Amino acid sequence: MTTLLEPYQLADLTLPNRVVMAPMTRSRSQNHAPNESTATYYAQRASAGLIIAEGAPISLQGRGYLWTPGIYTQEQLDGWRKVTDAVHQAGGRIFVQLWHTGRMSHVTLQENGQAPVSSVDTQVVNWPVFAYDEAGNPGQVPASPARRLSVEEIHRITEDFVRAASNAMAAGFDGIELHSAGAYLLDQFINGGINTRDDEYGGESIQNRLRFVLETVDAVSQAIGSKRVAIRISPEARIHDGPAYPSERETFLTLAEELSKRSLAYLHINDMGVSSELLAGIRRVYRGTLMIAGEYTQEKAQKAIESGVVDLVAFGRPYIANPDLVERFRNGWPLAVAEHAVFYGGDDRGYTDFPPYIQS
Ligand SMILES: Cc1cc2nc3c(=O)[nH]c(=O)nc-3n(C[C@H](O)[C@H](O)[C@H](O)COP(=O)(O)O)c2cc1C
Repeated sequence: MTTLLEPYQLADLTLPNRVVMAPMTRSRSQNHAPNESTATYYAQRASAGLIIAEGAPISLQGRGYLWTPGIYTQEQLDGWRKVTDAVHQAGGRIFVQLWHTGRMSHVTLQENGQAPVSSVDTQVVNWPVFAYDEAGNPGQVPASPARRLSVEEIHRITEDFVRAASNAMAAGFDGIELHSAGAYLLDQFINGGINTRDDEYGGESIQNRLRFVLETVDAVSQAIGSKRVAIRISPEARIHDGPAYPSERETFLTLAEELSKRSLAYLHINDMGVSSELLAGIRRVYRGTLMIAGEYTQEKAQKAIESGVVDLVAFGRPYIANPDLVERFRNGWPLAVAEHAVFYGGDDRGYTDFPPYIQS
């Protein structure tokens, strides 16, 4: 019987267990660069089979929230180098998630106050972003209206992803995860309810809606090697005003089939309501390593691995308060619970001060 706590061979990386730390934005990079605390935080969690570092904007344009650490300036790369060195010294492995938020952004985060960008002219109305309000104070504000990208600009963003991936390698990461979930930019092209373009990058044609993400996967793979490239998707998620649309299941099955041809590190499903039929369908057509995240407990993760539905399970919130999550699982120790108030922003409190379990 395969267990959650057994090793797994992920391309040329040997993971000591199948417990992954899910990417989590913690909004603690006031200069938009990782710092000593970021390094401490990730190194404390190095016993995870794999760490996926939080969404890192690939460009100024790709930012949607204040205080997220980017991966496009030298200062940011120097900060990430501290993180990867600390994690490797602690015996861990670490990927970074590459992020362009698209329409989930605000003019105060964009260069010269420009409009954010997306597949079409569009605006998210039900979900705020974290930017500057009218008085210039940081806070939750409605996303700004976004404008449709030209084909030339789409190509330029693929280049931004490539540059960010090369930066990640230079900063010592073991690989990158493309953020193609959560109705952020890549997903704003995949989603047939948002992307009503009438050119080769959108509309009813599934191939057209998948063109941007697949071209980006290919370009990044060519730059750093497909074994170091992973991707996160969120089929049937209803977040950030990403609507349901008639060809949704077919779209994700086609995407999984296409990704299967590309020998990637893994395909990561962010389960925010994916149906068991679609998940099973993806498992059938995707022949590589499959990872899942979304309200998993040790027991649920063990069952998912045992039954062969997935190969790896990523844990998000449990990793906030349990730096030694793997040891707690191994020994049956109780889990600490983090309050929502410490998730985003602030200082080291609720960030690097959760201790490992202390036996009494
Ligand atoms: C504080 C916080 C920040 C998150 N940031 C990201 C992120 O940057 N990128 C991403 O893909 N998902 C992000 N997520 C989603 C998590 O990766 C994960 O999928 C989700 O929390 C469900 O797993 P859980 O139930 O184990 O927490 C975030 C979740 C939390 C709680």
